[in-house]
Amino acid sequence: MADDRPILLFDSGVGGLSVLAHVRKSLPNAAFVYAADNAGYPYGTKSEAEIASRVPALLGRLAERFGPRIIVIACNTASTIALSHVRAALDLPVVGTVPAIKPAAMASKTRVIGVLGTEATVRQPYVDRLSAEFASDCRVIRYGSAELVGLAEAKLRGALPDAGQMRAIMAGLYSQPDGNRIDQLVLACTHFPLLASEIAAAGPPGVTLVDSGEGIARRTEFLTHGQEWAAEPRGIAVFTKDSPDLGQLRPALATYGMGEIQIL
Ligand code: DGL
Repeated sequence: MADDRPILLFDSGVGGLSVLAHVRKSLPNAAFVYAADNAGYPYGTKSEAEIASRVPALLGRLAERFGPRIIVIACNTASTIALSHVRAALDLPVVGTVPAIKPAAMASKTRVIGVLGTEATVRQPYVDRLSAEFASDCRVIRYGSAELVGLAEAKLRGALPDAGQMRAIMAGLYSQPDGNRIDQLVLACTHFPLLASEIAAAGPPGVTLVDSGEGIARRTEFLTHGQEWAAEPRGIAVFTKDSPDLGQLRPALATYGMGEIQIL
């Protein structure tokens, strides 16, 4: 029997599209709802308490409206703070996005890895735990940047970032003690793979960028294994508030298969 329940991906903005790209590739027949909480954006400068109460409530409303089979929180800030609250509140499988510290540590030769996220993500105990469990013999250098998140949002609206500004931001990571020895850089915010080429160009050569997209796609595929999909895969982008700049996002959304825009 055809099952038209979608996969719901969620972020504060367009960052989760970097995760959607991987999930679509592994599940090409799936229907997707991509939800962006633009009314609550940005998350990275908010408090833990704000995120922990906002995200489960919003996902509850989205689940009621769209009846997804699974939820992917395509946001490191929301996942590292609110994943357990969301799982406790909803009776659905929930996949979170957390910094890819494990694969970065496995691949590092210099034993110095960078973690580039939002300010909220890089201060999370969740990141302390991942570092202790998977990278205890590495130096883990963290840097949080709200500016980079804004540049990724602008890029998807058609404005390319300035190379000088990118170098100045990335200096905040690389100029820390031992920063010049980083060989693996964890993109611990889903907005940042959207700026992968600019991030690579703004740092020293020989740094490998690592993100969680492929791992999340594998996990989502595993959790939906054997399920049926509707004949017509459909993509809906839903925003939590109407805004004049949504029109500028249409072309980018279309490239990710999101042909329809709705307001929650
Ligand atoms: N894309 C989000 C993340 O992965 C957060 C961006 C923001 O709203 O600050 O952390």
